[in-house]
Amino acid sequence: MDKVLIFDTTLRDGEQSPGFSLTSDQKIEFAHQLARLNVDVIEAGFPAASPDDFAAVQRIAREVKGRIITGLARAVPEDVDILWDAVKVAENPRIHTFISTSDIHLEKQFRLTREQAKEQAIAMVARAKGYCSDVEFSPMDATRSDWDYLYEVIEAVIQAGATTINIADTVGYVMPDEFGELISGVWGRVTSADKATISVHCHDDLGLATANSLAAIKAGARQVEGCVNGIGERAGNASLEEVVMALNVRRDFFSRYETGVNAREIWPTSEMLASFTGQGVQPNKAIVGRNAFAHESGIHQDGVLKDKITYEIMKPDDVGRPETRLIMGKHSGRHALRVELAKLGFAVGSYDLLDAFRRFKDVADTKKEVFEEDLRAIMQDVAGASIGNGQAREAAPVGAPDQRDRLTP
Ligand code: KIV
Ligand code: ZN
Repeated sequence: MDKVLIFDTTLRDGEQSPGFSLTSDQKIEFAHQLARLNVDVIEAGFPAASPDDFAAVQRIAREVKGRIITGLARAVPEDVDILWDAVKVAENPRIHTFISTSDIHLEKQFRLTREQAKEQAIAMVARAKGYCSDVEFSPMDATRSDWDYLYEVIEAVIQAGATTINIADTVGYVMPDEFGELISGVWGRVTSADKATISVHCHDDLGLATANSLAAIKAGARQVEGCVNGIGERAGNASLEEVVMALNVRRDFFSRYETGVNAREIWPTSEMLASFTGQGVQPNKAIVGRNAFAHESGIHQDGVLKDKITYEIMKPDDVGRPETRLIMGKHSGRHALRVELAKLGFAVGSYDLLDAFRRFKDVADTKKEVFEEDLRAIMQDVAGASIGNGQAREAAPVGAPDQRDRLTP
């Protein structure tokens, strides 16, 4: 098996996006949670950005054991020195430095020639290497760079001592096949490629960050960077939980690869981040969204009540979540209603199911979701009506979906 290292940048790329800032204490607590999640590398911040960031990175470096701790530094001497000062107390420190390689960035933003950028990258990797054996270099905007030049820079920085090369799709521009080609090209075009781990860092501007990261793994990348809940600049970074669970759930397809992530900590980590930032996860977000294991349509509810495998490709427990939820609403069928009523103590056969179902649909039409207290109120009405009629109708046997179940896929 090949291990794919998981590099978490929630506290750097994630934290720098609007609305996601954390206090120093929250950063420390979250870093400890990342250690429980068992990610391999924690990028704890950008120490040159502010004294506060420096202090948080240093504290994480001192307190969080057993992980590689890094931070980000522009490829300039003062950033590299400050970063080293912050992380050198770690059990396993890493220096991560970057410079752009695309002509768009070099010409329009940094006003550097390709040669100048390459020389700066080499010099800063060499400087970092003087401090620390573990050095990561990121060519920023790599996917919009000229590939020949990109491979040339990668060759040069590996020779200068970089041990990880992190190919960044900074603006979420690349397509999965194209990225696979770019990554596999490294071994054909960079003679020292075997001396470094190839990493990828994908943004989600076109919703492809997870797909691109997975394509890169297939093409030879052995480190993936991303953020919990997919947070990060603009549309966010690759969502770590999606990458990890794609590898876990599709072991048949990704049979050679594994991560060390303790997937049962995914949900607690996601919840902690959402509560610290006050930013809830979108309900339909894969793996950690509120609806990711919820079923409302009658046909789906009927299926999961018979066997969850019908509509679930993983168990909530696999990611540390509580049980599958059946959402009782206007799309629900009689099978689910019977089951929910039984959970509340209304035994099958003791009430008129057709009447209960009709009343339930009336309520569901006026509300987005029908809760336990609504069901109890419905059952009071059902009881009142059956006393009035002097009759109670037989309930249909559990497991026999009616026509209406089939009409609401
Ligand atoms: O998106 C990006 O290019 C980055 C690098 C600095 C790694 O965050
Ligand atoms: Zn980024």
